[in-house]
Amino acid sequence: MSQPTIESILHERRVFTPPADFAQQAHIKSLDEYQQLYDRAKANPAKFWEELAIKELHWFEKWHTVLDWQPPNARWFDGGKINISYNCLDRHLTTWRKNKAALIWEGEPGDSRTLTYAQLHREVCQFANALKHLGVQKGDVVGVYMPMIPEAAIAMLACARIGAAHTVVFGGFSAEALRDRLNDGNAKLIITADGGWRKDAIVPLKEQVDKALADGAAPTVQHVLVVERTKQGVTMEPGRDHWWHEVQPTVSAHCPAEPMDSEDMLFILYTSGSTGKPKGVVHTTGGYNLYTHITTKWVFDLQETDVYWCTADVGWITGHSYIVYGPLSNGATTLMYEGAPRASNPGCFWDVVEKYGVTVFYTAPTAIRAFIKMGDQHPQARDLSSLRLLGTVGEPINPESWMWYQKVIGGDRCPIVDTWWQTETGGHMITSLPGAVPTKPGSATLPFPGILADVVDLEGNPVSDHEGGYLVVRHPWPGMMRTVYGDPDRFRRTYWEHIAPVDGQSLYFAGDGARKDEDGYFWIMGRVDDVISVSGHRLGTMEIESALVSHPAVAEAAVVGRPDDLKGEEVVAFVTLEGAIAPSDDLIKTLKQHVVTEIGALARPGEIRFSDALPKTRSGKIMRRLLRAIAAGEDVSGDTSTLEDRSVLDKLRTGG
Ligand code: WT7
Repeated sequence: MSQPTIESILHERRVFTPPADFAQQAHIKSLDEYQQLYDRAKANPAKFWEELAIKELHWFEKWHTVLDWQPPNARWFDGGKINISYNCLDRHLTTWRKNKAALIWEGEPGDSRTLTYAQLHREVCQFANALKHLGVQKGDVVGVYMPMIPEAAIAMLACARIGAAHTVVFGGFSAEALRDRLNDGNAKLIITADGGWRKDAIVPLKEQVDKALADGAAPTVQHVLVVERTKQGVTMEPGRDHWWHEVQPTVSAHCPAEPMDSEDMLFILYTSGSTGKPKGVVHTTGGYNLYTHITTKWVFDLQETDVYWCTADVGWITGHSYIVYGPLSNGATTLMYEGAPRASNPGCFWDVVEKYGVTVFYTAPTAIRAFIKMGDQHPQARDLSSLRLLGTVGEPINPESWMWYQKVIGGDRCPIVDTWWQTETGGHMITSLPGAVPTKPGSATLPFPGILADVVDLEGNPVSDHEGGYLVVRHPWPGMMRTVYGDPDRFRRTYWEHIAPVDGQSLYFAGDGARKDEDGYFWIMGRVDDVISVSGHRLGTMEIESALVSHPAVAEAAVVGRPDDLKGEEVVAFVTLEGAIAPSDDLIKTLKQHVVTEIGALARPGEIRFSDALPKTRSGKIMRRLLRAIAAGEDVSGDTSTLEDRSVLDKLRTGG
């Protein structure tokens, strides 16, 4: 059950056309219609996006320029005034949607809540006033470190409402990682909860916040707004910490949405790269609103009566774009679930589908692989007949898992959308439109209209069919990241200078390898840089190496990904120890825990191997390719011409 290989791709011949009844009622009903949209967008991208911006969103004031493109800097709908919280809430209140369920929430211990658009609007306004009351102003940055509860979405929408940028940090990150992000973003306030439920246990979020802020280590943070969730008891620092349930009754439910410039920052979201510390990916307001709105509408084919469920965490871009902003901007019912499938409750996802009659379901290959392993009896014991569309995101899905998803979850009735995109792209880039584009298991299929994607070599020349190359995008799109927070140079270097410009035109480099087949379908091959994906979570090997060498026992460390049936990849670390220190099982435990403390449990190495030296080239570069092969148990004996000291290799192989 590994990632797609070149062989499996070349031998994949199955094609599934959209079911006729699905296509008839879909927003985009045929391959012809898709092709026309695609061609129209390609011929005049600015016109294509402008028409959609007028039709789909509310603007306080119209823009003067649709696109100002000075590579790598794009400005979309410049001069336009807009507020995404208004588009997600207020504009639905003047329609029958006022009393429609906006957010259905299912809590881990079995509690639940449904908020209508009117109720969600009210809570967001109160939350926004609470932020103002605590001194948050337009342009400030607010940290959000929350469990999967409605207040996570409410907090984001409240920030957007008053023009503060949020930076959501996934609750699985450690206090150290949280502190780095708060400091990089100069966050003024942090929104958290006493705790959150995670697989039958409580994650002590407030305690982590206290650690992150201890000894003035995050000096810009002035206040902590704490939502009560798990009630296990936390310390509140007077003057700094405030309970949301105590503030809420004191604030007004009236808070007009602040008209924002289209290019005002909406949020920062940190993601791992191949070098250095995590990057603060910056998204702005107008373009992101439009892009998440239209991709949600067309890719999930949202209809008024859908109950739409994306299983991601709001701490990742998928949660931002496809739990909160995209669905709410469309006036849809979005479902949020606090729990995660686990041995003690292997059917919990299917219980949620049955209980709420979920119609559109969006999850990750790593979850699908876990379900396969848990057994068909769990989905089969539930009524999943409400489902009409399935989606997948996060890593390449192997054709076997795709077929299982279609058959066991989708009852051979639901189209599957395999959506390729990234934190940086804001929304879906390569994906089928479910009523229009025939699918092939394992392929993300074709680019979204307006996305000029291609596979090229380092010189920017398109490669031939079935030949591997770099996945690039040729023209800016509204949802693209605008910069790396505080580091425009890194933005340029990382994304816009890797591939040579073609006819003076810069290409966006995604960091993925891909190939196209004879039908123009894209087959994503995975990262070509030192980024690995563990259970769909993106990690930079350098970050884990830095965490390891920050331990006094470690002299040098090299981290690679090893293919794993369940998680996609697993972290394997090769470590050399400081002079007098002897390897031991205890030290392995200590170092694993050290990585958890520095980054979070998601980065915990599956294996640590000690060695006297790491394999290096004559110029002193660690040979990761070799380490990857060794970690995977491959034969590397013939592959070492540039290795400086061959004896290192023998020791590594024997695990010495
Ligand atoms: C990387 C982006 C975008 C939401 C979740 C991850 C990989 C994502 C697919 C897919 C093959 C995929 C890529 C990409 N990826 N979706 N459908 N097929 N690979 O966001 O953490 O920014 O990671 O995830 O390698 O570059 P992210």
